[in-house]
Amino acid sequence: MNNQTAWWKKSVVYQIYPKSFYDSDGDGFGDLNGIREKLSYLEKLGVDVIWLNPIYESPQVDNGYDISNYKKIEPQLGTMEDFDMLLKEAHEKGIRIILDLVVNHTSDKHPWFTEAKKGKENLYHDYYIWKDTIPNNWGSSFGGPAWEYVETAQYYLHLFAKEQPDLNWENPKVRKEVQEILRFWLEKGIDGFRMDVITLISKDPAYPDGPVIQNKAYGSYYAGCASGPHVHEYLQEMNREVLSKYDIMTVGEAPHTSADEAAPYTASDRHELNMVFHFDHMHLDYDENGKYAKNRVKLTDLKEVMTKWQDTMHECDGWNSLYWSNHDQARAVSRFGNESEPYRVKSAKMLGTILHMMQGTPYIYEGEELGMTNAHFESIDEYKDVEALDIFRDFTERKGFSEKDTLELLGLKSRDNARTPMQWDNTVNAGFTEGTPWIGVNKNCKEINVEQCLADQDSIFYYYQKLIQLRHEMPIITDGVYELLDKENESVYAYLRKGEKETLLVVGNFTDKTINYHIEEKVQAKKSRLLISNYNAAETFERDLSLEPYGACVYLLEAEK
Ligand code: NOJ
Repeated sequence: MNNQTAWWKKSVVYQIYPKSFYDSDGDGFGDLNGIREKLSYLEKLGVDVIWLNPIYESPQVDNGYDISNYKKIEPQLGTMEDFDMLLKEAHEKGIRIILDLVVNHTSDKHPWFTEAKKGKENLYHDYYIWKDTIPNNWGSSFGGPAWEYVETAQYYLHLFAKEQPDLNWENPKVRKEVQEILRFWLEKGIDGFRMDVITLISKDPAYPDGPVIQNKAYGSYYAGCASGPHVHEYLQEMNREVLSKYDIMTVGEAPHTSADEAAPYTASDRHELNMVFHFDHMHLDYDENGKYAKNRVKLTDLKEVMTKWQDTMHECDGWNSLYWSNHDQARAVSRFGNESEPYRVKSAKMLGTILHMMQGTPYIYEGEELGMTNAHFESIDEYKDVEALDIFRDFTERKGFSEKDTLELLGLKSRDNARTPMQWDNTVNAGFTEGTPWIGVNKNCKEINVEQCLADQDSIFYYYQKLIQLRHEMPIITDGVYELLDKENESVYAYLRKGEKETLLVVGNFTDKTINYHIEEKVQAKKSRLLISNYNAAETFERDLSLEPYGACVYLLEAEK
Protein backbone atom coordinates (compact mmCIF):
# COMPACT_ATOMS: atom_id res chain seq x y z
CA MET A 1 0.00 0.00 0.00
CA ASN A 2 1.21 3.48 -0.82
CA ASN A 3 2.43 5.07 2.40
CA GLN A 4 1.27 8.51 1.32
CA THR A 5 -2.33 7.50 1.59
CA ALA A 6 -2.14 4.92 4.34
CA TRP A 7 -5.13 5.18 6.65
CA TRP A 8 -3.04 4.64 9.75
CA LYS A 9 -1.23 7.90 9.10
CA LYS A 10 -4.45 9.79 9.66
CA SER A 11 -5.63 7.67 12.54
CA VAL A 12 -5.74 8.08 16.28
CA VAL A 13 -5.44 4.87 18.27
CA TYR A 14 -7.13 4.24 21.61
CA GLN A 15 -5.45 1.64 23.78
CA ILE A 16 -7.69 -0.59 25.88
CA TYR A 17 -6.39 -2.67 28.74
CA PRO A 18 -9.32 -5.09 28.62
CA LYS A 19 -9.02 -6.31 32.18
CA SER A 20 -9.52 -2.78 33.47
CA PHE A 21 -11.90 -1.21 30.97
CA TYR A 22 -15.43 -2.32 31.73
CA ASP A 23 -16.80 -5.42 33.43
CA SER A 24 -20.09 -6.57 31.90
CA ASP A 25 -20.67 -9.66 34.06
CA GLY A 26 -19.74 -8.61 37.56
CA ASP A 27 -16.75 -10.88 38.10
CA GLY A 28 -14.41 -7.96 38.76
CA PHE A 29 -12.52 -8.26 35.45
CA GLY A 30 -13.16 -6.15 32.44
CA ASP A 31 -14.23 -8.15 29.40
CA LEU A 32 -14.92 -8.07 25.68
CA ASN A 33 -18.64 -7.56 26.12
CA GLY A 34 -17.77 -4.63 28.37
CA ILE A 35 -15.84 -3.09 25.50
CA ARG A 36 -18.79 -3.70 23.19
CA GLU A 37 -21.02 -1.80 25.59
CA LYS A 38 -18.66 1.16 25.48
CA LEU A 39 -18.12 1.39 21.74
CA SER A 40 -20.44 4.37 21.46
CA TYR A 41 -18.27 6.18 23.97
CA LEU A 42 -15.22 5.60 21.78
CA GLU A 43 -17.17 6.59 18.71
CA LYS A 44 -18.08 9.84 20.42
CA LEU A 45 -14.44 10.50 21.23
CA GLY A 46 -13.75 9.97 17.54
CA VAL A 47 -10.88 7.48 17.63
CA ASP A 48 -10.18 5.43 14.53
CA VAL A 49 -8.52 2.34 15.93
CA ILE A 50 -8.61 0.35 19.14
CA TRP A 51 -5.51 -1.52 20.29
CA LEU A 52 -6.43 -4.31 22.66
CA ASN A 53 -3.79 -5.59 25.05
CA PRO A 54 -3.58 -9.42 24.90
CA ILE A 55 -6.94 -11.14 24.97
CA TYR A 56 -5.76 -14.73 24.45
CA GLU A 57 -5.92 -17.61 26.90
CA SER A 58 -3.29 -16.99 29.53
CA PRO A 59 -2.41 -17.97 33.11
CA GLN A 60 -2.15 -14.16 33.65
CA VAL A 61 1.24 -14.20 35.32
CA ASP A 62 1.93 -11.02 33.34
CA ASN A 63 -1.67 -10.03 32.65
CA GLY A 64 -1.96 -11.78 29.32
CA TYR A 65 1.61 -11.35 28.06
CA ASP A 66 2.06 -15.04 28.87
CA ILE A 67 -0.06 -16.80 26.26
CA SER A 68 -1.00 -20.46 26.49
CA ASN A 69 -3.23 -20.55 23.41
CA TYR A 70 -3.00 -17.95 20.65
CA LYS A 71 -6.27 -18.94 19.06
CA LYS A 72 -8.48 -18.95 22.11
CA ILE A 73 -9.89 -16.03 24.07
CA GLU A 74 -8.97 -15.78 27.74
CA PRO A 75 -12.12 -17.05 29.53
CA GLN A 76 -12.09 -14.13 31.99
CA LEU A 77 -12.48 -11.84 28.98
CA GLY A 78 -15.13 -13.79 27.12
CA THR A 79 -15.42 -16.10 24.14
CA MET A 80 -14.52 -16.11 20.47
CA GLU A 81 -18.15 -15.27 19.69
CA ASP A 82 -17.83 -12.19 21.89
CA PHE A 83 -14.72 -11.22 20.01
CA ASP A 84 -16.35 -11.71 16.62
CA MET A 85 -19.25 -9.53 17.72
CA LEU A 86 -16.90 -6.88 19.05
CA LEU A 87 -15.02 -6.76 15.78
CA LYS A 88 -18.21 -6.60 13.76
CA GLU A 89 -19.76 -3.88 15.88
CA ALA A 90 -16.57 -1.83 15.96
CA HIS A 91 -16.28 -2.06 12.18
CA GLU A 92 -19.90 -0.98 11.83
CA LYS A 93 -18.95 2.17 13.70
CA GLY A 94 -15.92 2.70 11.50
CA ILE A 95 -13.52 1.72 14.28
CA ARG A 96 -10.71 -0.68 13.47
CA ILE A 97 -9.19 -3.15 15.92
CA ILE A 98 -5.58 -4.17 16.28
CA LEU A 99 -4.40 -6.95 18.55
CA ASP A 100 -1.30 -7.48 20.61
CA LEU A 101 1.02 -10.07 19.13
CA VAL A 102 3.22 -11.55 21.82
CA VAL A 103 5.67 -13.88 20.14
CA ASN A 104 9.03 -13.19 21.70
CA HIS A 105 7.85 -15.65 24.32
CA THR A 106 4.90 -17.84 25.24
CA SER A 107 3.52 -18.95 28.58
CA ASP A 108 5.25 -21.92 30.17
CA LYS A 109 1.77 -23.51 30.03
CA HIS A 110 1.68 -23.32 26.25
CA PRO A 111 1.63 -26.88 24.86
CA TRP A 112 4.78 -26.11 22.85
CA PHE A 113 6.62 -25.52 26.08
CA THR A 114 5.11 -28.33 28.10
CA GLU A 115 6.30 -30.60 25.28
CA ALA A 116 9.66 -28.87 24.82
CA LYS A 117 10.67 -29.27 28.42
CA LYS A 118 10.20 -33.03 28.29
CA GLY A 119 13.67 -33.40 26.86
CA LYS A 120 16.08 -32.78 24.03
CA GLU A 121 14.50 -35.43 21.83
CA ASN A 122 11.09 -33.81 21.93
CA LEU A 123 9.89 -32.31 18.64
CA TYR A 124 9.17 -28.99 20.29
CA HIS A 125 12.42 -28.74 22.22
CA ASP A 126 13.95 -26.48 19.60
CA TYR A 127 10.99 -24.10 19.76
CA TYR A 128 12.71 -22.52 22.76
CA ILE A 129 16.26 -21.51 23.67
CA TRP A 130 18.11 -24.08 25.76
CA LYS A 131 21.67 -24.28 27.06
CA ASP A 132 23.41 -27.03 29.00
CA THR A 133 25.02 -24.53 31.31
CA ILE A 134 24.15 -20.92 32.07
CA PRO A 135 25.96 -19.03 29.31
CA ASN A 136 25.92 -15.49 30.68
CA ASN A 137 24.99 -13.07 33.45
CA TRP A 138 21.66 -11.91 32.05
CA GLY A 139 18.90 -11.01 34.46
CA SER A 140 15.24 -11.28 33.57
CA SER A 141 13.01 -8.24 33.45
CA PHE A 142 10.99 -9.26 36.48
CA GLY A 143 13.86 -10.33 38.74
CA GLY A 144 16.26 -13.23 39.05
CA PRO A 145 18.43 -14.72 36.33
CA ALA A 146 17.17 -14.99 32.76
CA TRP A 147 17.93 -18.71 32.74
CA GLU A 148 15.77 -21.30 34.47
CA TYR A 149 16.66 -24.92 35.04
CA VAL A 150 14.47 -27.85 34.09
CA GLU A 151 15.93 -31.20 34.98
CA THR A 152 14.81 -32.96 31.83
CA ALA A 153 15.94 -30.31 29.40
CA GLN A 154 18.50 -28.00 31.03
CA TYR A 155 18.39 -24.18 31.08
CA TYR A 156 15.89 -22.15 29.09
CA LEU A 157 15.98 -18.43 28.40
CA HIS A 158 13.27 -16.10 29.64
CA LEU A 159 13.83 -12.37 29.27
CA PHE A 160 10.70 -11.75 31.32
CA ALA A 161 9.16 -13.91 34.09
CA LYS A 162 10.25 -17.53 34.29
CA GLU A 163 6.71 -18.38 33.18
CA GLN A 164 7.46 -16.60 29.88
CA PRO A 165 10.05 -18.74 28.03
CA ASP A 166 11.57 -17.12 24.94
CA LEU A 167 10.82 -18.66 21.57
CA ASN A 168 13.68 -19.70 19.34
CA TRP A 169 13.16 -17.62 16.20
CA GLU A 170 16.12 -19.27 14.52
CA ASN A 171 13.91 -22.31 14.15
CA PRO A 172 11.96 -21.87 10.87
CA LYS A 173 9.10 -23.92 12.34
CA VAL A 174 8.60 -21.26 15.00
CA ARG A 175 8.44 -18.56 12.36
CA LYS A 176 5.89 -20.59 10.40
CA GLU A 177 3.79 -21.02 13.54
CA VAL A 178 3.82 -17.27 14.06
CA GLN A 179 2.74 -16.69 10.47
CA GLU A 180 -0.08 -19.12 11.04
CA ILE A 181 -1.24 -17.17 14.11
CA LEU A 182 -1.10 -13.92 12.16
CA ARG A 183 -3.19 -15.40 9.35
CA PHE A 184 -5.74 -16.79 11.77
CA TRP A 185 -6.53 -13.33 13.16
CA LEU A 186 -6.14 -11.44 9.90
CA GLU A 187 -8.58 -13.77 8.21
CA LYS A 188 -11.07 -12.82 10.89
CA GLY A 189 -10.71 -9.27 9.63
CA ILE A 190 -8.67 -7.56 12.30
CA ASP A 191 -6.80 -4.47 11.23
CA GLY A 192 -3.28 -5.05 12.43
CA PHE A 193 -0.97 -5.79 15.29
CA ARG A 194 1.00 -4.16 18.01
CA MET A 195 4.00 -6.44 18.33
CA ASP A 196 5.32 -6.98 21.82
CA VAL A 197 9.10 -6.49 22.28
CA ILE A 198 9.51 -7.46 18.64
CA THR A 199 12.99 -5.96 18.44
CA LEU A 200 14.22 -8.61 20.90
CA ILE A 201 13.35 -11.74 18.93
CA SER A 202 16.78 -12.39 17.42
CA LYS A 203 19.48 -13.13 19.97
CA ASP A 204 23.23 -12.80 19.55
CA PRO A 205 24.34 -16.43 19.19
CA ALA A 206 27.43 -15.70 21.31
CA TYR A 207 25.15 -14.93 24.27
CA PRO A 208 27.63 -12.39 25.63
CA ASP A 209 27.54 -11.10 29.19
CA GLY A 210 25.76 -7.77 29.51
CA PRO A 211 26.80 -4.76 31.57
CA VAL A 212 25.38 -4.56 35.06
CA ILE A 213 23.50 -1.27 35.02
CA GLN A 214 21.03 0.59 37.26
CA ASN A 215 22.39 -1.18 40.37
CA LYS A 216 20.74 -4.39 39.26
CA ALA A 217 21.67 -7.82 40.50
CA TYR A 218 22.32 -9.21 37.01
CA GLY A 219 23.64 -8.14 33.63
CA SER A 220 21.46 -6.48 31.02
CA TYR A 221 20.30 -8.64 28.12
CA TYR A 222 19.75 -5.73 25.79
CA ALA A 223 23.14 -5.76 24.09
CA GLY A 224 22.62 -9.42 23.21
CA CYS A 225 18.97 -9.14 22.14
CA ALA A 226 17.96 -5.68 20.93
CA SER A 227 17.97 -5.55 17.11
CA GLY A 228 19.86 -8.85 16.98
CA PRO A 229 21.52 -10.28 13.87
CA HIS A 230 18.42 -11.62 12.08
CA VAL A 231 15.61 -9.40 13.29
CA HIS A 232 15.18 -7.52 10.01
CA GLU A 233 15.31 -10.70 7.99
CA TYR A 234 12.59 -12.24 10.20
CA LEU A 235 10.36 -9.20 9.94
CA GLN A 236 10.79 -8.96 6.20
CA GLU A 237 9.88 -12.60 5.92
CA MET A 238 6.78 -12.05 8.06
CA ASN A 239 5.86 -9.06 5.97
CA ARG A 240 6.38 -10.87 2.67
CA GLU A 241 4.55 -14.03 3.68
CA VAL A 242 1.65 -12.50 5.56
CA LEU A 243 1.42 -8.81 6.45
CA SER A 244 1.78 -7.45 2.92
CA LYS A 245 -1.30 -9.36 1.84
CA TYR A 246 -3.61 -7.35 4.08
CA ASP A 247 -4.50 -3.67 4.43
CA ILE A 248 -3.38 -3.39 8.03
CA MET A 249 -1.21 -1.39 10.40
CA THR A 250 1.70 -2.68 12.42
CA VAL A 251 3.47 -1.10 15.34
CA GLY A 252 6.41 -2.79 16.97
CA GLU A 253 7.40 -2.25 20.55
CA ALA A 254 11.07 -1.32 20.37
CA PRO A 255 12.79 -1.12 23.73
CA HIS A 256 16.39 0.09 23.63
CA THR A 257 16.15 1.18 20.02
CA SER A 258 17.47 4.58 19.01
CA ALA A 259 15.84 6.62 16.24
CA ASP A 260 18.63 5.66 13.85
CA GLU A 261 18.22 1.99 14.71
CA ALA A 262 14.47 2.33 14.28
CA ALA A 263 14.73 3.68 10.75
CA PRO A 264 15.22 0.26 9.09
CA TYR A 265 12.18 -1.14 10.91
CA THR A 266 9.83 1.54 9.70
CA ALA A 267 11.26 2.99 6.45
CA SER A 268 8.57 2.36 3.87
CA ASP A 269 10.93 0.77 1.33
CA ARG A 270 12.05 -1.87 3.85
CA HIS A 271 8.68 -3.63 4.17
CA GLU A 272 8.93 -4.48 7.84
CA LEU A 273 6.70 -2.50 10.21
CA ASN A 274 4.76 0.74 9.83
CA MET A 275 6.04 2.27 13.04
CA VAL A 276 7.58 1.47 16.41
CA PHE A 277 7.08 2.54 19.99
CA HIS A 278 10.35 3.95 21.20
CA PHE A 279 11.29 4.49 24.83
CA ASP A 280 13.68 7.41 24.59
CA HIS A 281 11.30 9.88 26.22
CA MET A 282 10.37 7.28 28.83
CA HIS A 283 13.99 7.00 29.92
CA LEU A 284 14.54 10.70 30.57
CA ASP A 285 13.54 10.59 34.22
CA TYR A 286 15.60 7.52 35.10
CA ASP A 287 18.39 7.70 37.67
CA GLU A 288 21.10 5.31 38.80
CA ASN A 289 18.37 2.85 39.81
CA GLY A 290 16.67 3.03 36.45
CA LYS A 291 12.96 3.61 36.04
CA TYR A 292 12.10 3.81 39.74
CA ALA A 293 13.37 7.32 40.29
CA LYS A 294 12.03 10.60 41.63
CA ASN A 295 13.37 12.70 38.75
CA ARG A 296 11.12 14.80 36.59
CA VAL A 297 11.78 15.02 32.90
CA LYS A 298 13.74 18.11 31.85
CA LEU A 299 11.89 19.85 29.04
CA THR A 300 15.00 20.49 26.95
CA ASP A 301 15.80 16.75 27.07
CA LEU A 302 12.26 15.93 26.05
CA LYS A 303 12.41 18.34 23.13
CA GLU A 304 15.71 16.89 21.99
CA VAL A 305 14.38 13.33 21.99
CA MET A 306 11.06 14.10 20.35
CA THR A 307 12.76 16.26 17.73
CA LYS A 308 15.30 13.57 16.93
CA TRP A 309 12.47 11.08 16.30
CA GLN A 310 10.42 13.55 14.30
CA ASP A 311 13.40 14.36 12.09
CA THR A 312 14.70 10.82 11.69
CA MET A 313 11.36 9.24 10.81
CA HIS A 314 10.69 12.03 8.35
CA GLU A 315 14.07 11.61 6.67
CA CYS A 316 13.83 7.83 6.32
CA ASP A 317 10.20 7.91 5.20
CA GLY A 318 9.26 6.00 8.30
CA TRP A 319 6.54 6.91 10.73
CA ASN A 320 6.29 7.83 14.41
CA SER A 321 4.02 6.49 17.09
CA LEU A 322 3.22 9.20 19.59
CA TYR A 323 2.44 8.38 23.19
CA TRP A 324 2.76 9.72 26.72
CA SER A 325 1.56 6.63 28.50
CA ASN A 326 0.48 3.03 28.19
CA HIS A 327 -0.14 0.01 30.40
CA ASP A 328 3.56 -0.14 31.35
CA GLN A 329 3.97 3.47 32.36
CA ALA A 330 2.79 5.98 34.90
CA ARG A 331 -0.21 8.12 34.02
CA ALA A 332 0.64 10.90 31.56
CA VAL A 333 -0.70 13.80 33.59
CA SER A 334 1.06 12.62 36.76
CA ARG A 335 4.40 12.13 35.08
CA PHE A 336 4.68 14.81 32.42
CA GLY A 337 2.01 17.27 33.53
CA ASN A 338 0.70 18.24 36.95
CA GLU A 339 -1.89 16.05 38.60
CA SER A 340 -2.55 18.54 41.41
CA GLU A 341 -5.47 20.90 41.31
CA PRO A 342 -5.95 23.43 39.85
CA TYR A 343 -3.55 22.28 37.10
CA ARG A 344 -4.62 18.76 36.26
CA VAL A 345 -7.10 19.51 33.51
CA LYS A 346 -5.02 22.24 31.91
CA SER A 347 -1.80 20.28 31.92
CA ALA A 348 -3.52 17.20 30.51
CA LYS A 349 -4.85 19.27 27.63
CA MET A 350 -1.46 20.86 27.08
CA LEU A 351 0.19 17.43 26.86
CA GLY A 352 -2.47 16.30 24.42
CA THR A 353 -1.86 19.38 22.26
CA ILE A 354 1.91 18.96 22.12
CA LEU A 355 1.68 15.27 21.23
CA HIS A 356 -1.27 15.25 18.85
CA MET A 357 0.09 18.02 16.66
CA MET A 358 3.29 16.09 15.96
CA GLN A 359 3.87 13.93 12.92
CA GLY A 360 2.95 10.32 13.58
CA THR A 361 0.07 8.27 14.88
CA PRO A 362 -1.09 9.33 18.36
CA TYR A 363 -2.06 6.70 20.93
CA ILE A 364 -4.44 7.56 23.74
CA TYR A 365 -4.21 5.26 26.72
CA GLU A 366 -7.60 4.54 28.33
CA GLY A 367 -8.46 7.22 30.87
CA GLU A 368 -5.95 9.70 29.48
CA GLU A 369 -8.88 11.51 27.90
CA LEU A 370 -10.26 12.02 31.43
CA GLY A 371 -6.95 13.07 32.93
CA MET A 372 -6.83 9.95 35.10
CA THR A 373 -3.92 10.10 37.54
CA ASN A 374 -1.53 7.67 39.19
CA ALA A 375 -3.09 5.21 41.62
CA HIS A 376 -1.70 6.50 44.92
CA PHE A 377 -1.71 3.07 46.51
CA GLU A 378 -0.62 3.14 50.12
CA SER A 379 0.49 -0.43 50.74
CA ILE A 380 2.32 -3.07 48.77
CA ASP A 381 -0.71 -5.32 49.20
CA GLU A 382 -2.59 -3.11 46.76
CA TYR A 383 -0.11 -3.80 43.95
CA LYS A 384 -0.76 -6.69 41.58
CA ASP A 385 1.92 -6.32 38.94
CA VAL A 386 4.73 -8.88 38.80
CA GLU A 387 7.18 -6.02 38.13
CA ALA A 388 6.02 -3.94 41.12
CA LEU A 389 6.23 -6.89 43.48
CA ASP A 390 9.72 -7.72 42.26
CA ILE A 391 10.89 -4.10 42.60
CA PHE A 392 9.54 -3.97 46.14
CA ARG A 393 11.45 -7.13 47.07
CA ASP A 394 14.62 -6.05 45.30
CA PHE A 395 14.70 -2.49 46.61
CA THR A 396 13.83 -3.34 50.22
CA GLU A 397 15.76 -6.61 50.58
CA ARG A 398 18.81 -6.19 48.35
CA LYS A 399 19.22 -2.46 47.77
CA GLY A 400 18.43 -1.48 51.36
CA PHE A 401 15.68 1.03 50.58
CA SER A 402 13.05 1.59 53.26
CA GLU A 403 9.54 0.32 52.53
CA LYS A 404 8.30 3.89 52.63
CA ASP A 405 10.78 5.10 50.02
CA THR A 406 10.13 2.10 47.82
CA LEU A 407 6.39 2.68 47.99
CA GLU A 408 6.97 6.28 47.02
CA LEU A 409 8.91 5.17 43.94
CA LEU A 410 6.24 2.63 43.01
CA GLY A 411 3.67 5.37 43.48
CA LEU A 412 5.47 7.40 40.84
CA LYS A 413 6.33 4.74 38.29
CA SER A 414 4.62 1.39 38.83
CA ARG A 415 2.79 -0.09 35.88
CA ASP A 416 -0.24 -0.56 38.14
CA ASN A 417 -0.70 3.21 38.05
CA ALA A 418 -2.08 2.76 34.56
CA ARG A 419 -3.98 -0.41 35.30
CA THR A 420 -6.54 0.75 37.85
CA PRO A 421 -10.06 0.46 36.49
CA MET A 422 -11.44 2.97 34.02
CA GLN A 423 -13.50 5.53 35.91
CA TRP A 424 -16.96 5.63 34.39
CA ASP A 425 -19.02 7.43 37.02
CA ASN A 426 -19.16 8.33 40.70
CA THR A 427 -20.96 5.22 41.88
CA VAL A 428 -19.32 2.33 43.69
CA ASN A 429 -16.15 1.05 41.96
CA ALA A 430 -16.37 3.98 39.59
CA GLY A 431 -19.05 2.10 37.69
CA PHE A 432 -16.40 -0.34 36.42
CA THR A 433 -17.85 -3.46 38.01
CA GLU A 434 -20.65 -4.62 40.24
CA GLY A 435 -18.29 -7.17 41.73
CA THR A 436 -14.95 -6.79 43.45
CA PRO A 437 -12.46 -5.20 41.06
CA TRP A 438 -9.31 -7.25 40.47
CA ILE A 439 -7.26 -4.15 41.33
CA GLY A 440 -8.32 -1.19 43.46
CA VAL A 441 -10.15 1.75 41.92
CA ASN A 442 -8.45 5.13 42.21
CA LYS A 443 -9.86 7.10 45.15
CA ASN A 444 -10.32 10.18 43.00
CA CYS A 445 -12.96 8.46 40.88
CA LYS A 446 -15.73 10.55 42.43
CA GLU A 447 -14.24 13.66 40.83
CA ILE A 448 -12.58 12.19 37.74
CA ASN A 449 -14.85 10.04 35.62
CA VAL A 450 -16.49 9.74 32.22
CA GLU A 451 -19.88 10.94 33.39
CA GLN A 452 -18.39 14.13 34.77
CA CYS A 453 -16.30 14.71 31.64
CA LEU A 454 -19.22 14.21 29.29
CA ALA A 455 -21.30 16.71 31.25
CA ASP A 456 -18.61 19.40 31.11
CA GLN A 457 -18.10 21.05 27.72
CA ASP A 458 -14.71 22.24 28.91
CA SER A 459 -13.46 18.77 29.84
CA ILE A 460 -10.34 16.99 28.65
CA PHE A 461 -12.61 14.54 26.82
CA TYR A 462 -14.00 17.23 24.51
CA TYR A 463 -10.57 18.73 24.05
CA TYR A 464 -9.23 15.37 22.89
CA GLN A 465 -12.29 14.99 20.68
CA LYS A 466 -11.31 18.25 19.02
CA LEU A 467 -7.65 17.25 18.66
CA ILE A 468 -8.77 14.08 16.89
CA GLN A 469 -11.16 15.97 14.68
CA LEU A 470 -8.42 18.42 13.68
CA ARG A 471 -6.20 15.52 12.62
CA HIS A 472 -8.99 14.16 10.49
CA GLU A 473 -9.70 17.49 8.85
CA MET A 474 -6.29 19.03 8.36
CA PRO A 475 -3.75 17.25 6.16
CA ILE A 476 -0.99 19.45 7.52
CA ILE A 477 -1.19 17.58 10.84
CA THR A 478 -0.33 14.41 8.97
CA ASP A 479 2.09 15.83 6.44
CA GLY A 480 3.62 19.07 7.74
CA VAL A 481 7.35 19.10 8.36
CA TYR A 482 8.26 19.44 12.01
CA GLU A 483 10.61 22.20 13.10
CA LEU A 484 11.53 22.87 16.70
CA LEU A 485 11.63 26.46 17.90
CA ASP A 486 13.56 27.84 20.84
CA LYS A 487 15.42 24.65 21.63
CA GLU A 488 17.02 25.85 24.89
CA ASN A 489 13.84 27.07 26.54
CA GLU A 490 13.26 25.09 29.74
CA SER A 491 9.60 26.07 30.14
CA VAL A 492 7.93 26.25 26.75
CA TYR A 493 7.72 23.67 23.99
CA ALA A 494 7.14 25.42 20.69
CA TYR A 495 7.32 23.94 17.22
CA LEU A 496 6.10 24.38 13.68
CA ARG A 497 4.60 21.98 11.19
CA LYS A 498 5.38 23.38 7.81
CA GLY A 499 3.31 22.79 4.72
CA GLU A 500 3.58 24.32 1.28
CA LYS A 501 1.18 27.17 1.85
CA GLU A 502 0.52 27.03 5.53
CA THR A 503 2.22 26.35 8.80
CA LEU A 504 1.03 25.21 12.18
CA LEU A 505 2.44 26.88 15.24
CA VAL A 506 2.17 24.73 18.36
CA VAL A 507 3.02 26.11 21.79
CA GLY A 508 2.77 24.58 25.25
CA ASN A 509 3.77 25.93 28.66
CA PHE A 510 5.15 23.10 30.79
CA THR A 511 5.15 25.14 34.01
CA ASP A 512 2.65 26.35 36.59
CA LYS A 513 3.64 29.99 35.94
CA THR A 514 2.22 32.48 33.48
CA ILE A 515 4.85 33.08 30.82
CA ASN A 516 5.15 36.00 28.45
CA TYR A 517 6.44 34.23 25.44
CA HIS A 518 7.90 35.82 22.35
CA ILE A 519 7.68 33.88 19.10
CA GLU A 520 10.82 34.38 17.08
CA GLU A 521 10.71 36.68 14.08
CA LYS A 522 11.28 34.01 11.49
CA VAL A 523 7.71 32.85 12.12
CA GLN A 524 5.62 35.06 9.87
CA ALA A 525 1.98 35.07 8.93
CA LYS A 526 -0.19 37.14 6.72
CA LYS A 527 -3.31 35.52 7.97
CA SER A 528 -3.77 33.34 11.01
CA ARG A 529 -6.40 31.45 12.90
CA LEU A 530 -6.50 29.83 16.32
CA LEU A 531 -7.27 26.13 15.92
CA ILE A 532 -7.37 25.03 19.52
CA SER A 533 -6.31 26.27 22.90
CA ASN A 534 -6.82 25.29 26.53
CA TYR A 535 -7.13 28.88 27.72
CA ASN A 536 -8.49 32.11 26.44
CA ALA A 537 -5.88 32.59 23.72
CA ALA A 538 -6.18 35.32 21.10
CA GLU A 539 -8.16 34.36 18.01
CA THR A 540 -5.29 35.33 15.72
CA PHE A 541 -1.58 34.90 16.10
CA GLU A 542 0.22 37.38 18.32
CA ARG A 543 3.98 37.32 18.53
CA ASP A 544 3.90 37.96 22.25
CA LEU A 545 1.81 35.34 23.92
CA SER A 546 0.73 35.49 27.49
CA LEU A 547 0.75 31.78 28.20
CA GLU A 548 -1.22 30.75 31.23
CA PRO A 549 0.13 28.01 33.50
CA TYR A 550 0.14 24.88 31.31
CA GLY A 551 -1.41 26.95 28.56
CA ALA A 552 -1.30 25.57 25.03
CA CYS A 553 -2.39 26.90 21.68
CA VAL A 554 -2.19 26.01 18.03
CA TYR A 555 -2.38 28.54 15.22
CA LEU A 556 -2.73 27.97 11.54
CA LEU A 557 -0.51 30.51 9.81
CA GLU A 558 -0.86 31.39 6.19
CA ALA A 559 2.23 32.77 4.53
CA GLU A 560 2.31 35.95 2.54
CA LYS A 561 1.15 35.49 -1.02
C1 NOJ B 1 6.01 -5.43 26.99
C2 NOJ B 1 4.60 -5.34 27.47
O1 NOJ B 1 4.08 -4.09 27.14
C3 NOJ B 1 4.64 -5.60 28.95
O2 NOJ B 1 3.41 -5.32 29.57
C4 NOJ B 1 5.07 -7.03 29.16
O3 NOJ B 1 5.23 -7.27 30.53
C5 NOJ B 1 6.37 -7.34 28.46
N1 NOJ B 1 6.45 -6.77 27.13
C6 NOJ B 1 6.55 -8.82 28.32
O4 NOJ B 1 5.65 -9.33 27.38
